[in-house]
Amino acid sequence: MKTAIYPGSFDPVTNGHLDIIQRASKMFDKLVVVVLINPLKSYSFTIPERCEFLRKATADIPNVEIASFDGLLADYFNQRQDVDVIVKGLRATSDFEYEFQMAHTNKDLNPRAETVFIPASLKTTFVSSSMVKQVAMFGGDLSKYVPACIHEEIRTKLTHDFDEAKALAEARTHE
Ligand code: PNS
Repeated sequence: MKTAIYPGSFDPVTNGHLDIIQRASKMFDKLVVVVLINPLKSYSFTIPERCEFLRKATADIPNVEIASFDGLLADYFNQRQDVDVIVKGLRATSDFEYEFQMAHTNKDLNPRAETVFIPASLKTTFVSSSMVKQVAMFGGDLSKYVPACIHEEIRTKLTHDFDEAKALAEARTHE
């Protein structure tokens, strides 16, 4: 039995992530999608929210497990003795340098942790979580970028946060 792990921030999961999940879940017996933290990034959604979005978006894929971990991917890989390989999606050329660096760092930290890359499909290669968040904040159409089952939750939270931030900025200009 071959098990792969698909790590990411998933803040939030997009159709690009879902495309990789669908394709990887056909290549391996089991796919563990793990929500991790990049301590240099700030996130819009909590880890439980991001896991719940992933659970909803992958509810129809039986061999997918959703997990989260607060630490190094190399350490999580070490703890999960059932996991054989790391899977990452690669969009156009923009991801290459960063992903290449991460794959080598993970292997350096844990020699068992090999990474395989799946090219993003042409339809989703330009889609990113940060782009999705901007579209949502300004009330744009999310339907092509995010699984339908989580549109409303994403839109509600992001427009609420955005309205609060604008109100705060407005209040500060009048201080
Ligand atoms: O979706 P992202 O933001 O590109 O995912 C990056 C993520 C969260 C997978 C990466 O930052 C990560 O693995 N974080 C956990 C800490 C770690 O192991 N970093 C890589 C070695 S420097």
